Amino acid sequence: MIQTSNSSDLTQQYIALEHRYGAHNYHPLPVVLNRGEGVYVWDVDGKKYYDFLSGYSAVNQGHCHPRIINALVRQAQQLTLTSRAFYSEPLGEYEKFITTLFGYDKVLPMNTGVEAVETAIKLCRRWAYDVKGIPPGMAKIIVCDGNFHGRTTTVVSFSTDEASTKHFGPFTPGFEIIAYDDIDTLAEALNDEYVAGFLVEPIQGEAGVRVPHEGYLAKAKSLCEEKNVLFIADEIQTGLARTGKMLCCDHEEVKPDILILGKALSGGTMPVSAVLADDDIMLTISPGEHGSTYGGNPLACSIAIASLKVLTDENMAANAEDMGTLLRKELKKIHSPHIDLIRGKGLLNAIVIKHSNKEAAWQLCLQLMENGLLAKPTHGDKIRLAPPLVITAGQIMECVGIIEKSLKVLD
Ligand SMILES: Cc1ncc(COP(=O)(O)O)c(C=O)c1O
Repeated sequence: MIQTSNSSDLTQQYIALEHRYGAHNYHPLPVVLNRGEGVYVWDVDGKKYYDFLSGYSAVNQGHCHPRIINALVRQAQQLTLTSRAFYSEPLGEYEKFITTLFGYDKVLPMNTGVEAVETAIKLCRRWAYDVKGIPPGMAKIIVCDGNFHGRTTTVVSFSTDEASTKHFGPFTPGFEIIAYDDIDTLAEALNDEYVAGFLVEPIQGEAGVRVPHEGYLAKAKSLCEEKNVLFIADEIQTGLARTGKMLCCDHEEVKPDILILGKALSGGTMPVSAVLADDDIMLTISPGEHGSTYGGNPLACSIAIASLKVLTDENMAANAEDMGTLLRKELKKIHSPHIDLIRGKGLLNAIVIKHSNKEAAWQLCLQLMENGLLAKPTHGDKIRLAPPLVITAGQIMECVGIIEKSLKVLD
């Protein structure tokens, strides 16, 4: 059983329960949470922590934001699920709201992030055959090494991470993997007339917050336009104010042909995802050709409207920009031989740890937990620092202090 110096009997009981009855497909920190509010979460013994993961950026608005919870409760008492066999009051309202906000003709609502990615792939392929005129079965989508777009069989088919792919084949064909943040390789790959789309994360979050060079997204978009290839942005983790703009693509004034959103679309209350596109792409799919029982359900729609309004009404993008700048500036002042690099945009950041011990990042996360801050390593030596976007300057300063103090455990 996993032990930490101060883990209580209660903590151990819950951990043992999950270990005994749940699949072992995650490796959580040994902390058992039972409450959240704003930037804070509390464990079963009442200890308070800063949440620097934010549910992998699903909780951008902060835990249990009152306006989102109110929308949830109100709609839950009225009507939760109709299926798309019928119309509902909130769906059209939500569709109008989100398409107006992001400037697209249409939205296709789904649930989890990976379902939205699957939807984007299907839309891109359908457009390739029906509009671009690629011969049936020949369409290719270009993707990047180090990508993370979710866990379904098709989506892991183009993962370059062995942990995602090993012994899960055979895989779905039709994807070409190129280097991330390499515009020349993209230009070359786009010469293939069977390429239909380029699927990209504006910042690779799971890969350890890999921020591409300035201008990469804009150049990639204009190359795609030249070759009549759809630029598909997976903004599931980078979108919705996380990086200091409503969309990460906004930093380079790029409007994706297909925009994929998820996570914070529900402020961390339930799985809500969306694919946005204009009519020439979206209307290639007809009734009966794609869907989901829960996609666009009344509860999700009401929650999504509230979640988006909270982001804009409370200027969370601007706060993410300011607090992210402060966080990186203050972290860079820490003199520690164990920090290799600090990088990020807005409040999507990472520390890259330099240490002879491969477990150093994990050990640091245990120490951060001990000191009241929850963060998780990704790909071994990188620790993502992505608090809810409601964090204040005073709280950032306190957290930098916790990080500085905790780093000493690696001495
Ligand atoms: C960029 C990106 N795409 C897709 C996904 C998959 O989302 P979900 O876990 O909701 O299926 C994630 C999740 O971390 C992600 O970060």
